[in-house]
Amino acid sequence: MARRKIIAGNWKMNMTPTEAVALIEELKPLVVNEEADVVFCVPAIDIIPAMEAARGTNIHIGAENMYFEEKGAYTGEISPKMLVDAGVKYVIIGHSERREYFAETDETVNKKVLKAFEHGLTPIICCGESLTQREQGITIDWIRQQIKIAFLNVTADQAKAAVIAYEPIWAIGTGKTATSDQAEEVCAAIRVCIGEIYDEATAEAIRIQYGGSVNGANAAELFAKPNIDGGLVGGASLKPDFGKIVNYK
Ligand code: PGA
Repeated sequence: MARRKIIAGNWKMNMTPTEAVALIEELKPLVVNEEADVVFCVPAIDIIPAMEAARGTNIHIGAENMYFEEKGAYTGEISPKMLVDAGVKYVIIGHSERREYFAETDETVNKKVLKAFEHGLTPIICCGESLTQREQGITIDWIRQQIKIAFLNVTADQAKAAVIAYEPIWAIGTGKTATSDQAEEVCAAIRVCIGEIYDEATAEAIRIQYGGSVNGANAAELFAKPNIDGGLVGGASLKPDFGKIVNYK
């Protein structure tokens, strides 16, 4: 069975609630694609107005992060229940910016992934190597380690529903996209790794995105690769170019 593409925007720390509504109004007609899941992952404060603005469209609203506890004394954090109650289905977990600036580790990523599944949320689990790691030839080893820890104690059924975003850190926000062959090589290796942890059926079902300077001009070539099931898009998700990415064919 062919995997359904999933194309997600990651707004990062951009867009006030007012701007969020205006952007969704602008992009709404451009991101119609019956054949793909289209997700806008927005800042927490934008989730409710974005949900309202996207009502009746094919746009799913996602979150950029969540905490791994149910509730309590964790000032500033968002719980999985809050996301579910707001109507969120997808949540980005372990983006490299969260790992770099907010001390997230493979272990906290794993806790968040388990918690997301417990609440019926679909995690978009990020992994990716630095330029040094790529130059040292340890990309695949590094990614396999990230994946193995992220999926600790995750069941095969849960894994089948998960989304992995392979985002080489050197390609994020730099305009330096990985070539489609480089992206495919790592996405294929991730699928092999999932097959080793679980089984062939799980490896075939899980969706793997590429992220890192995806734009309207390079999406078609990237998404045509057999192991790339869509993209996680930063900068270009805030522009009409996102419509071209969603309708990449
Ligand atoms: P970019 O960001 O598309 O701006 O490179 C991708 C991401 O960080 O998810």
